[in-house]
Amino acid sequence: MQLTDGVITLRHPNVDDAHDVASAVQASLAELQVFMPWATPDYGPAQARQWMFGEFNPGEEPFIILDAHDEIVGSCGLGPIDQLNRVIELGYWVRSDRTGRGIATRAARLLARHAIDNRGAMRVEIHMSVENPGSRRVAENIGATYEGTMRARLLLNGEHHDAEIWSILATDPHNPVL
Ligand SMILES: CC(C)(COP(=O)(O)OP(=O)(O)OC[C@H]1O[C@@H](n2cnc3c(N)ncnc32)[C@H](O)[C@@H]1OP(=O)(O)O)[C@@H](O)C(=O)NCCC(=O)NCCS
Repeated sequence: MQLTDGVITLRHPNVDDAHDVASAVQASLAELQVFMPWATPDYGPAQARQWMFGEFNPGEEPFIILDAHDEIVGSCGLGPIDQLNRVIELGYWVRSDRTGRGIATRAARLLARHAIDNRGAMRVEIHMSVENPGSRRVAENIGATYEGTMRARLLLNGEHHDAEIWSILATDPHNPVL
């Protein structure tokens, strides 16, 4: 499974990627730790393999993000689908020395399209802490709709954060991800 827009490629990771995923996490630790508490100083290939095989979040569909040179510049994924309601959540992070170039926006767009076209989602959600303006901007960039703020939705480093919820519907008119 590969998803590409001609600039970045998303593909499912395999065990041979574990070392490079862990290196990318370590190179981004300061930024990741704030919003992704699984990113710890001892994150290594073993933790990357656990992520790949869904041990952190069973049912998740993980992807690595590759640039034009096939280098891993981050990862992203779809959460487990809520089959009854056809709802799925997407998430992303980008290696700190590669941010600010539209990579997360491209990845989120590809993921949302994949969720709707290939996974049968009617509704794709993006959640982020109210203190994460970069992630909010990604949701805006892909044309998602802000729906509200959930109180104390995320527990990050021992502190509860309110979280914004954004969505894309398969039926949204002029949907930029379709
Ligand atoms: C948030 C994150 C995914 C953005 O990745 P990226 O590849 O830089 O994203 P993009 O370049 O596609 O877009 C980011 C946008 O946010 C803006 N932005 C970034 N940081 C910002 C900040 N602190 N305040 C306001 N805007 C910010 C950028 O200027 C850019 O805006 P633009 O599209 O108008 O130019 C990345 O910084 C990251 O991995 N952060 C740590 C993990 C994380 O927070 N993941 C999301 C959890 S919900």
